[in-house]
Parts: sequence; C-alpha cells; structure tokens
Amino acid sequence: MEPSLLVIFGASGDLTRRLLVPDLFGLFAEKLLPEGFAVLGVSRTAYTDDAFRSLLRDAAREHARGGFDPALWDAFAPRLFYHPADLDNAESYTGLVGRIRSLCAERGIPGNLIFYTAVAPKHYVSLVRRIGEAGLSVPSPELPGFRRVVVEKPFGRDLESARALNREVLSVFRDDQVYRIDHFLGKETVQNIFVFRFGNGIFEPIWNRNYIDHVQITVAETIGVEGRGDFYEEAGALRDMIQNHLLQLLALVAMEPPGSLDGDDIRGEKLKVLKSIERVAPERAGEVCVRGQYAEGEIDGKRVPPYRTEKNVSPSSFTETYVALRLAIDNWRWAGVPFYLRTGKRMGRKVSEIAIQFHHAPSLLFKDTACGQLESNLLVINIQPEEGIFLRFGAKDPGPEVCVRPVDFHFTYREAFGARSTPAYGRLLLDVMHGDPTLFPREDTVETSWSLLDPFLRRWEEDPSRDLFFYPAGSWGPREADALPEAGGDRWRRP
Ligand code: BG6
Repeated sequence: MEPSLLVIFGASGDLTRRLLVPDLFGLFAEKLLPEGFAVLGVSRTAYTDDAFRSLLRDAAREHARGGFDPALWDAFAPRLFYHPADLDNAESYTGLVGRIRSLCAERGIPGNLIFYTAVAPKHYVSLVRRIGEAGLSVPSPELPGFRRVVVEKPFGRDLESARALNREVLSVFRDDQVYRIDHFLGKETVQNIFVFRFGNGIFEPIWNRNYIDHVQITVAETIGVEGRGDFYEEAGALRDMIQNHLLQLLALVAMEPPGSLDGDDIRGEKLKVLKSIERVAPERAGEVCVRGQYAEGEIDGKRVPPYRTEKNVSPSSFTETYVALRLAIDNWRWAGVPFYLRTGKRMGRKVSEIAIQFHHAPSLLFKDTACGQLESNLLVINIQPEEGIFLRFGAKDPGPEVCVRPVDFHFTYREAFGARSTPAYGRLLLDVMHGDPTLFPREDTVETSWSLLDPFLRRWEEDPSRDLFFYPAGSWGPREADALPEAGGDRWRRP
C-alpha cells in the first residue's frame, strides 16, 4: 500500500484524542501502517508539533485498545504533525497547502491525501468547499496522488440536509472518493453478521419469515451525554444512533446475499432492504415509536443526574435519549416479521446485541410436563461488550420426569480467537488508505435512512413533547415502550 497523509481537520477535538490517533497507534503496533504514512492535525489552537504529540501521548496511554508501550509510542510519534489554521478563513489554506507539500516531500508520500472532517457538523460544507477552492481535491504536479475524504457522522440532520450535504461534497469530490463513516461497521462482530449468515450452510435456509418470529436490535449504553450536551440537544437518539448504527445493523441482518464481495454489490443489497422498510405516515408514527429521556437514577450503585441538568442541556429539553421503534420489512423474506429497534443512554447495562427469536415449536408433546410451555429458540449476536454468539435451545432436564429446560450454546471471540480485534476506527481508516469503500454507507443509503426517519422528525418538530416519556437512569427505558412488542404478542428481552 502506498503511503498517504491523513489530514485531520478539527484535530484538537475529542474524536482525534479518544479514537482516531489511539486506533492509528494500534495499527502502527500491528505493523499495518505503510512506511511514510503520517498525520497532519489541523485546527485553530496554536500547538507546535511537539505539544500536539505530547497531548496525544496522554490520550493514547488512556485510550489505546491494545495497551500502551512507551517505546512503541516514541517510534510512532514522529509521524504526527500539527498545523494551526483558522478553517473559516480561505487564506489560511495557502499555508496549509505549503505544509502538506513539504510534509509529503519529506516523508516520501507521493501526494496521496486523505481528509478527515473531525469538525462540528455545521462546518462540513464550508470545510469541503474550502478544500476544493484551495485546489486540494484534485491532483497537481506537486501533489499527484489520490484524494479521499472521510465525512464523520452525523451526515445531515434530516433528508433535506443530507441531500444538500451530499450535493456539496459531490461537487468537490467524486462519489468513489467519499467515505461516510459509521464506526459500527468497523466492529469485528458487526462484520461477522455477514460471515455468519453467508459463510455457513445451516443458518441461511431458516433466516426468513417461515422460521423467524421477530428480531430485536438493542444498543444500550450506561453513559450519559458525556459533556456533549450541546451536540446531543440538536441530535437526540434517533439521529445519533438509529439513522446510522441501528439501521446498518438491521440491513446486515435482513439483506439478501449479494452477488459477490464487491463493495457495490454488498452496498446495493443493503440499500434494497432499507428501501423495503415500510414508510410510516407522520400521523401514525406514534404507534410504532416511543421516545424517552432519562430522569435521575442509579447506575452501578451511583446516583446519576437527570438529562435536563447535564451541561449545555436545556432544563426543559424534550430531546430523546432513548428511542424504540417497530419496523416492518415488506419483502418476501420478512413480511410479517417485526423488527424492534431500541437504543438509549443511561440504561441498566451496556450491551449491543441482535436477538433473533424463532417461532415456537408445537408444544403438544410437552404441554402437560412439569415444565409447561416450551421456550422458542433464540439466537443472539452479541456485538459488545461480550463479543460472540449464543443459541438457546431446549434440553432434557436430567431426572425421571420429562422436562425441557432452555440451555445455551456459546461462542465467544475471546475463547475462539484469543487475539484482540482491530478497533473499529483503525479498521475503517485502513480501508480508506486501501481505497475500499465496502464498509462505508453510500449516498443513496444515507438518504434512504433519513427518508425513513423524516416522518418521526416532522411529528416531533410540530410538538417536541410528543411520544416522550421519562425513565429512571439505570432502567431499561420508559414502560410505554413495552407496548411496541406487546402489540405483536412479544416482549423486550432483558439482556
Ligand atoms: C456514537 C454516538 O456514534 O456512537 C455516541 O455519537 C455513542 O452517542 C457511540 O455513545 C457509541 O459507540 P460505541 O462504539 O461506544 O458503542
């Protein structure tokens, strides 16, 4: 792989410190970075290269997932550079171009540039425009290599703004140069959904409405908004988690097998299934969606404050920190199988999982036994923190009586593979360096996801208190959300 220069705009922010640089350090430790590869951090703060490196050293010590080896860091740090610039000012880009040129020359980088938008979303458009105006989006005699741009989420805040952002970005870059990042797709366990379904003979034949009763996708967090109140007030759980992470998980679970492993074949199938999700009219949105906001409560034995008293949050905020949806996919595979999605902050446990609930077996044979009703089979794909899969089935309880008890088959990554997996951002950055867009949502996918959610957003814009219920921190969300699965005779799982 040819070396490239990763130019991170907004490099003094949290994302660079907590995720991007620690994950790049992880790639370096695994010897996955090409010789010459370097990072140029750009933002307004006046750091020197050394100050930037020492800031990131502390961050890597705290956040590097493969551990922190000081000697290794000393070998990695000379690849980090910093350039202070006011990104709103067109003139600052002249200095930036000069710095990029000299770094590429020094480090033997043949002009390959990757731009990363780690700035606040409201600056994406102007940043991309300025990159274009500065001549950085096209190869030049001094910088002849490839150009790629990584656009952080949220990609827009509704369908209209996502379309506008796509238009702007695509007026500067070609679509194959644009990487819209969704870090869930970089998680090993998420990629394994595809392998589990299509790399085995026994699951795919039963992966449909004939065998599956319903699907539950849960992404529960125990953290609150972690000082990001200003961002979160504008976003809420629907925009922050459902539009991207949960709908991508749904697409992986529900898509048809693609014709090949080619990125566009896979992304094409994901798009098809998202398009088959039934649109909900705004006036019916309240029937399939429940929102919540955390009130005061207790997590791991500690009292935690309500959302409304978090920093930069309005004391009368109606922003949702929890959302649950019941979606229907209208195609041959899934007609009649509800997909329940829920995500929330300050919930009882940190867990991300996909639970596939199979139909009940006929219980005639066992209905009069001591154990009564049979439990139906359940397959759970654990995305985090316990990375693995388990399958629940009935087994005979030892003893003279016939009695069926549920037991579990367990696969865990830890036991099977031991090794730690490449962290999500690291994996995705590597794909950008390789020019492989498979794990990055395409323009049409992003817009389709927004189009599904627009009716909810419109309904809440009209009346921000609609469908919103409070739940104590540390619980599993508002009770009102139970009505969603109950309408179909189902219940939320307690993972
Ligand atoms: C981010 C959201 O995209 O994903 C955060 O903005 C959320 O609000 C985070 O906490 C969850 O990611 P992970 O990898 O920690 O599950």
